Order: sequence, then C-alpha cells, then structure tokens
Amino acid sequence: MDLKEMLAHRRAIRVYDKTKHIDTERVADCLRLAQLAPTSSNMQMWECYHVTDAKTLEALHRACFQQTAATTAQELVVFVVRPNYVKRRATANLTFQERNIREHFPKEKQEKYLKRWSMYYKKAIPFLYGRFFGLFGLLRKGLMQLLTPFRPMLHQTSEADGNVILHKSCALVAETFMLAMSEIGYDTCPLEGFDSWRVKRALHLPYSAQISLIVSCGVRNEAAELGERFRIPFEEQYIRI
Ligand SMILES: Cc1cc2nc3c(=O)[nH]c(=O)nc-3n(C[C@H](O)[C@H](O)[C@H](O)COP(=O)(O)O)c2cc1C
Repeated sequence: MDLKEMLAHRRAIRVYDKTKHIDTERVADCLRLAQLAPTSSNMQMWECYHVTDAKTLEALHRACFQQTAATTAQELVVFVVRPNYVKRRATANLTFQERNIREHFPKEKQEKYLKRWSMYYKKAIPFLYGRFFGLFGLLRKGLMQLLTPFRPMLHQTSEADGNVILHKSCALVAETFMLAMSEIGYDTCPLEGFDSWRVKRALHLPYSAQISLIVSCGVRNEAAELGERFRIPFEEQYIRI
C-alpha cells in the first residue's frame, strides 16, 4: 500500500471479525515502527502496553464500557504517558548525544555542541517539565509572562499545559502505529472512551501515569456496515496565508 491507500484503508473499526486472527509479533513490529514518531524535545515520555492476555483484556473491556470496538478486538494497545520520566529520558537523550556528537560531528565543534545539549537536558528540560502539585507550573508561567514583553517566550508552561504536550506527542505515536497496522492490512480503532482509573488498575500502573489512548486491533468484520467517511469540506479547514 502507498500512503494514500493506507490512509484510505484506516478507519475506526467498531466490529472486528473474530475468526480472522492477527499475528501478535506483527503488531509488536508496528509498535516498533511507531517509536519513529516525533516527540517534543525527543523526550519520548510514553510507553505502550500491548495486551493479549485474556483476563486483562476482559478487565479492559469493562473499563472501555463494553464498546464493541474493544470487546470484538483481538488485542488492545494502551498508550500511556509518564510525566515523572523527565530525569530518566533527559539522561538517556544526553548520554546518546554525547556519543553521537563524538562519533559524527567535526572535532572543533564537539565541545560547543556538547555544552549546548548539556544545557538543554540538564537545565532547560528540568525547568520546563518540572512539577510540584501545580505550583511549579504556576511559578514558571508567571515568570514567562513577566519576560514576554522583552522577548518571545513559551506560554504553554503550566503543569496542565505540560500534560497537553505529553499527550500530543503520544497521539503522534498512536497515529503512526495505526498507519503501520493499516499498511499490513490490520485494523484499529482509537478509543478515549474509558475509565482511566480502571485501566490503570488492570495494568498495575501508578497514580502518576496517564492513559492517553487505547487502540483496539484486529481485522474488520466485512459484514458489519461501516458507511461513508465524514470529513468537513477541506476549504473550511484550510487557510493559506
Ligand atoms: C482521540 C480519539 C478518541 C476516540 N475515541 C473513540 C471511542 O471511544 N470510541 C469509538 O468508537 N471511536 C473513537 N474514536 C474514533 C473516531 O470516532 C473516528 O476516528 C472518527 O469518527 C473518524 O472516523 P475514521 O477514523 O473512520 O475516519 C476516537 C478517535 C480519536 C482520534
């Protein structure tokens, strides 16, 4: 399939064919491809739980209000964001960049780049991602407001804004996964209709983890009516400047 065909094939499937099995390893391969999606500051503060175990699936069906998009699916992938992974992801990025710079950048520029990455992941990122019951975000937002008359500043800096940033990146990962599934003829449905507390309990996740999206997986039931796809006229959404 080329990209156009993949995009046309991907639909939100609500009824899967229980007789058509999908290969768990191929689904995992699509998740591996989804890792290539971009994330803000390359922080990759997401993880996915590929659920194939019958008991956990049953608990998730209940958490998804028994939607057929979940109950008829063969597997579910739960995309989770982890706001408290700042330090470990920043360290991983910096460790990688130190090697990357030494191996791929001209010798005379290495120190400059190393210093820049170190500032970014040791100072800027902890400042921008830091949280303390909403208070740190409030302080950060206040500081940015004070500085904005003098220079362009980020404004989405509260802790709630931080959640949007994490879920935004995670959604790109989930979309990449769904397109990869589409490319091999597998079907998916993104779901945000779920009880996130129950999902967390089923996956033994801590309070700090946030459920971003559940993607159900299987092969569509051709007998179930899908209907046409509705999209707003392009001209209403496309503004060329
Ligand atoms: C963030 C998000 C959450 C969604 N949640 C649900 C859901 O809980 N249940 C459901 O049946 N479909 C859900 N959908 C699927 C949308 O309804 C569907 O993508 C939309 O109607 C467009 O249809 P298409 O994907 O076939 O083009 C969700 C889609 C997105 C992007």
